[in-house]
Amino acid sequence: MSELEAARQWKLQRNILPRPQGEIRAIRSDERPRSFGITSYEELFTPRQLLVLGHAFQWIREKVREERIRRALELAISNSLATNNKLCGYATDYGRLSALFSVRGYSIPALMVELNPLHDTAGRGTIAACIERVAKSDSKQVRRHIWDYQANQPVANTFAFERAEGDSWVGLKNAASASGIDSIKKVDVAVFDPPYFDFIAYDELSEFHRAWFGELELAGEPLLPKSEDPVRSFGSQLGRSLNEMVKRARGNKPFAFTYHSSNPEAWEAVGLSLDYAQLAVTQLWPVRSDGHMGHHSNPGNCEWDVVVVCRPQAGTAKLRFVDDVDSWISHMKPLHVNEADVRNFRFAIQMAKSRFAKAL
Ligand SMILES: C[S@@+](CC[C@H](N)C(=O)[O-])C[C@H]1O[C@@H](n2cnc3c(N)ncnc32)[C@H](O)[C@@H]1O
Repeated sequence: MSELEAARQWKLQRNILPRPQGEIRAIRSDERPRSFGITSYEELFTPRQLLVLGHAFQWIREKVREERIRRALELAISNSLATNNKLCGYATDYGRLSALFSVRGYSIPALMVELNPLHDTAGRGTIAACIERVAKSDSKQVRRHIWDYQANQPVANTFAFERAEGDSWVGLKNAASASGIDSIKKVDVAVFDPPYFDFIAYDELSEFHRAWFGELELAGEPLLPKSEDPVRSFGSQLGRSLNEMVKRARGNKPFAFTYHSSNPEAWEAVGLSLDYAQLAVTQLWPVRSDGHMGHHSNPGNCEWDVVVVCRPQAGTAKLRFVDDVDSWISHMKPLHVNEADVRNFRFAIQMAKSRFAKAL
């Protein structure tokens, strides 16, 4: 469809199709995309994209009766928004489309491209590819390559997960205020990935997707450092979230989360949060993270996460933490550790030393 025809059709159909609603909030921590002159979510799409996406959502709502299939399809179309909008660029070095938020924020690409969302073989980002991706994620097995330090090379591992029938949808809640919600059951295990004290305003970015669902309100306060007292504000809010997790734990399994930062304050805040929730660190080790993400890796970025395993202090006894940055790095050879990660590891170990313990 030509641009002119699409614009004419959108004018005719705009009021009967689902579309992104609302203004882009003016009070925000990242001034983009308002600083580009874009003030409504609708402006981020061409009329052609609005027509295809609007019809897709409408078709799902009208035709798909079974709720779990409807939600899966809506998730797939929501996913396709990132590859079908005006801020998609062409990554010449990778020879493919780069999706919105691949640099964790709105950015104007050097070379804008519009994907044909209905193309059969255009690869990731088409509607078919996004549906395929959601379908594939509905699996009880995942295969991941893991560095085997005896073999000194990556080795494929398959992990299998059990899932209770009829209870398979992910529930999203604001972590720090979940205790008032009775429907949240006890948890067997908590493995998580909190924000990294890095001021990525996930709530502002997710608004781009939520705008299509008329869900501009957040469930609660996002976890972000506050500019007037970053360490204490982040530490106490994360601490309240950890506290909720401890209250809901069914057995006495440890909790584990990944974190990284080359900023000492970020790790100081994690220490405060553990103290707030009366948790001790019972294990700590590095894990390779964003290294594969090409354009994210530059010398200033961490490529390793640190896994922090913790337990309620009450069931632990103090223990000396014997590893140090050098011993970690020598274990990791021949994998590379950059300057930012040396700092990341140093501050993580510093944080854990005074809180290290063994389970009784
Ligand atoms: C580092 S990201 C984790 C990403 C996740 N591992 C994934 O692969 O999608 C941190 C996540 O925490 C969420 N978040 C921020 N504040 C939160 C809060 N108060 N309660 C629950 N989640 C929150 C953000 O929206 C973001 O998705």
